[in-house]
Amino acid sequence: MATTLYERMGGYDAISASIDALMVRMENDGHLAKYFVGHGNDSKMRIRQLQVEMICQATGGPCFYLGRDIKIVHKGMGINGVDWQAMITHLIGVLDSFHLQDSEQKEVLKLLNSVKNDIVEMP
Ligand code: HEM
Repeated sequence: MATTLYERMGGYDAISASIDALMVRMENDGHLAKYFVGHGNDSKMRIRQLQVEMICQATGGPCFYLGRDIKIVHKGMGINGVDWQAMITHLIGVLDSFHLQDSEQKEVLKLLNSVKNDIVEMP
């Protein structure tokens, strides 16, 4: 039986740890940090948890995403193509550090690419 991307990524704990690591990298990136200014720790944990649920569901895991529509959430932030590429570079760094195989990394990147137009508002 074919295994889900969720399983091949290492399941819930691995996805949670990857998102935590990505958030740390994004907040330490002078370019991306501005988007999270003004969010307290509890708000950041809420965003983190919703991201975990979204990725868990999208990769075939046993989660149900209860957050807002992804396009509505990011609308008005002015996220541009450079921001997007910076986030993707951090994501690859995180997935490498978790030793995720290239084939799985490609699937993750394809998934994210499918929502790029909902998040990026300008070149
Ligand atoms: C450069 C890329 C990105 C930036 C700068 C960014 C920034 C943000 C910020 C600042 C929030 C908080 C919004 C609020 O509380 O009102 C947020 C929420 C969220 N983001 Fe992103 N984001 C990015 C990419 C992504 C991607 C690729 C995904 C998932 C595929 C994602 C999923 C979410 C989710 C699920 C939430 C919470 C939704 C909710 O509150 O209901 N984001 N993002």
